[in-house]
Parts: sequence; structure tokens; C-alpha cells
Amino acid sequence: MALPKNNPISTNAWKNLQAHFNNIKNVQMKDLFSQDQERANKFSIKWNDFYVDFSKNRITEETFQYLLELAEEVKLKDAIKSQFSGEIINKTEGRAVLHTALRAPETDTILVDGKNIIPEIYQVKKKIEVFSNEIINAERKGFTGKAFTDIVNIGIGGSDLGPAMVVEALQYYTNHLNTHFVSNVDGDHVNEVIKKINPETTLFVIVSKTFTTQETLSNANTIRDWFLKSAPEEAIAKHFVAVSTNVEKVKTFGIDGSNIFPMWDWVGGRFSLWSAVGLTISLAVGYNNFNQLLKGAHKMDLHFKSEAFNRNIPVVLALLSIWYNNFFKAETEAIIPYSQYLNQFATYLQQGIMESNGKSVDRNGKPTDYQTGTIIWGEPGTNSQHAFFQLIHQGTKLIPADFIGFSQSLHGNQDHQDKLISNFLAQTEALLNGKTEEEVIAEGNLETLIPFKVFTGNKPTNTIFIHKLSPESLGKLIAVYEHKIFVQGVIWNIFSYDQFGVELGKQLANTILSELKGNTRKIHDSSTRNLIDYYQITKNK
Ligand code: F6P
Repeated sequence: MALPKNNPISTNAWKNLQAHFNNIKNVQMKDLFSQDQERANKFSIKWNDFYVDFSKNRITEETFQYLLELAEEVKLKDAIKSQFSGEIINKTEGRAVLHTALRAPETDTILVDGKNIIPEIYQVKKKIEVFSNEIINAERKGFTGKAFTDIVNIGIGGSDLGPAMVVEALQYYTNHLNTHFVSNVDGDHVNEVIKKINPETTLFVIVSKTFTTQETLSNANTIRDWFLKSAPEEAIAKHFVAVSTNVEKVKTFGIDGSNIFPMWDWVGGRFSLWSAVGLTISLAVGYNNFNQLLKGAHKMDLHFKSEAFNRNIPVVLALLSIWYNNFFKAETEAIIPYSQYLNQFATYLQQGIMESNGKSVDRNGKPTDYQTGTIIWGEPGTNSQHAFFQLIHQGTKLIPADFIGFSQSLHGNQDHQDKLISNFLAQTEALLNGKTEEEVIAEGNLETLIPFKVFTGNKPTNTIFIHKLSPESLGKLIAVYEHKIFVQGVIWNIFSYDQFGVELGKQLANTILSELKGNTRKIHDSSTRNLIDYYQITKNK
């Protein structure tokens, strides 16, 4: 069954939400809290090691009911079934969307073109396991017989962001191998990494689903040339492996067939860390931890598939986000993890969320007459409190925020942990309540300062409180956001799994590159023409 193609704004639920919005838009959350002592219990979900409190949102039971009706009316349940069963829901590219299959148990059967893909997935998982163990245990060595000490992941977008975010997030669980990531075509990136590594003891993992990506191939070629300055050609087989769907192109690059880790076109780049794209994760934290990450994601898959929508974490978060995006017209959403380990989490989610749902044409091929993809940004707390929180508290923009925290600290420093969590909890309380004029006066402030010290509050937040940061809980957390993306794409009636928007810039860059290399100049607007001239004049001066 194809995904439905209904305009969400023509649903009854949407119309009800619109009418209801006009009644509720000025309601103060703190009044809702004082009117209902059970509010926090009503609007929270306890599941496994997750406690998701969404009571600090500008919703009533009526709002929640209409949002749930919206999910029903757009046939979300059927859409979830279609995704998990491998239907071709990525219509514009003619593909299934099955990153969930990568974490499914071996006993499952998932058909793509009539063939069960689970055995193939498990073959690749076995290959990842064996290879990771051999490198970590120094059974595989470099061309001079030395054990590997460093891994360089060469990839960009989904072939970089997921592994880079997870390796940093699971730093506590890493082994002796040093991991580096090269993504940008800016040569300074690759050269800074080269400065830190020894060709005799470094393994290069080239990750590119298509194996045609300019950045990745340029970086891989630069590294290979550098490597061959101190190693013979045969050493490539020991030091270079690739993850790709494009086996022929990988072989042309010179990588041995046995060093290719396959992936499949039914895994989108930005959802691919669960596949062999996660090889660097498995090398950095060991296969067992990598597998725990997958197991955590699978647990969240089961929750998403089977839990009623009012208790379903990804569904609830997606609906709340639509409430702010489409009714309050919020422009952005912040992701604030109170864990330094999740430093790259918002950056990672930017690709997942914005590449997927940054669309303005619906599934009928018509321009949408409503807002779609949210803009995502964020940084860990408490650093972000000393950077952009001022604007969230007292600026003119409404910025719904997800606060993510862990009850237990990995290093067990209780004093730091208590301070961290007190900030985590205090910020959502401050955003909820603000500070009234009476409170400011009671503090004994100068009269002239009173208006500047008032906080309006009423700023919405979700709190995702997790027991402890582990491979399994991280897997669950990532899967929450993957499913949130899916739910929103279904409701907005857009195709979430293509990314044609990144193509135009790539095409024009190729044209300009050919001109920079001396080929005939094409017609450009006067601004671009002047900028090209400026570059040509200044690049060698
Ligand atoms: O940015 C476009 C994109 O296609 C992403 O979706 C993808 O993750 C990235 O480029 C890298 O692509 P590849 O893995 O094919 O090199």
C-alpha cells in the first residue's frame, strides 16, 4: 500500500486544531499546572529506561486529543506498517525504507523484491564482527607487521555524521584505537588528520553509499597518494576498506573485493549508521557495543510499531512539533542534551531532520500550502545556557526545545552530576514559569530595571530523562528521532527519503570547477562572475 496523499490541512483534526489554537494560544502553562495536579502524570510516558515528560507544553487534553486524531486521520498506523514491511514508500527514488531491518532479529523475515533481506544483513554483521575483532585484537596488522592504532573514517553526510556522533557519544566505551573523521573537501581537514597518523598503523575506512561523492573521493585519493609515499601498492589491501553499494567503483579505486562491506539502496544515507556505515563505530567501541546500539534501536522500533499513539514517544514528540510548527508558526526547534558526550547530536539530527523533511512539494507533486520541515539546532547544556539561552528566555521567538539528560553520570562524579542535573531541571522550570513583575519587585530591584528583569515564561519544552548513557539507550534515542521524522513526513504529505535539493549546488560546483581548471566560461549572473574573477586573481597572490 502506498502512503496516503491527503492534504493534512483538509482533515477534520487540522480544522479542529486551528479553531482550538485561537482559544488556547494565550493560555499560560503555569495556570494549567495549578488547575490540574495530575498534569505531569497525564502528559508523560515511562517506558524502559526512558521518562519522557511533555507536560510543559502549551496543550490541554483537548489539544492532545485533536493531535492524536490527526495521526489517525492521515492513516499513520497503515504508514508505519508500510514502512516496516518494506513497501516502496520512497516513491521518488523507487525504494523501500528499511533502516529498521538492519536492527531486526535474525528470525524476522522482511521481503524486498520478494527476497528476504535478513540473511544478507546478518552476513554483513558477521563480517563487521570478525573484522572489528581482528583489528582490535591485532590479529590483522599493517604492512610492516605493526598493530593498528588509528582508524580514519572518510565520508560525508550520512557516511560521516552518524558514525562521528556515535563514536563521540560512546567515548566512555571506546578501546585503544584512535578514531578520526575526514569529511570536508577543504584540504585543510584531511591534512590536519594526516599530521596525526602513521601510515604503518592506520586503517582507512572509505564510506560512501554511491562511491561518487566528490568530497569523499577527493579525500580518499589524497590519503591514498600520501599513503603510497611510504608504502608499496600491495599495502592498500591491508590498509583500505570500503563501505558502499557501488562495488564496481570501489574496485576501480583499488580496494580488494574482500575489503568491501556492502550496503543496500533501501538504507538512506542519513539512516545508515546501523549498516556497515557503522564499521568505524564497531571498531571504536567493539562489535558487542555496536550490536547493543542496534538492539536499543530495535526496542524503540517495537515501541513505535505497537504502542498506542498517546503513549508512543516518537508519535507524541512528532505531533507536538507539528503543533508548534504549523499552528504557533515556530521557526526552529532546539535540541539541548545535558551530556557533553552528545556534543554532535544536534548536528547529526540536522541532516536527518532537515534533509528528510525540508520539502515544499507534497506527495501529489503539488506545492504545499502549509509549513513543513523544522529547523533544528542546539548544543549541550550547560554550555548553551551561557551562549544562546538568553534568546530562548527573553527573545521574541518561540523556540520549543527538547531537553535530554541522563540520571547517572558515567564517571560517577556525583557533585558534578547533581550540578548538571539541577541545571537541566531548573531551565525547563524557568522556561515554564518565567518571572512575574511582582517577583522582580519582591527581589528589591530598582524600578527602572523591572521591565528588563521580567520573564514571560510559557516556553515549551520536552524532557527526555534516560537512566544512563549506554550503547543501548543511545540506540533508542536515535531511533526516537528517526521515527519522529517519519511521522512528520507522513502528516505533512511529503516524501521524506529523497534529497534532490542537494543536487543543484553539486552540479553548479562541477561547472565552476571546470571553469577554474581553464575550460570555457559558462554564463553566470554578474555576482557569481565577479566572485569567480576575484578568486582567480587572488588565489595565488
Ligand atoms: O548530501 C547528500 C547525500 O546524498 C546524503 O544524503 C548522503 O548521506 C551524503 O550525500 C553522502 O553520500 P554518499 O554516502 O553516497 O557518499
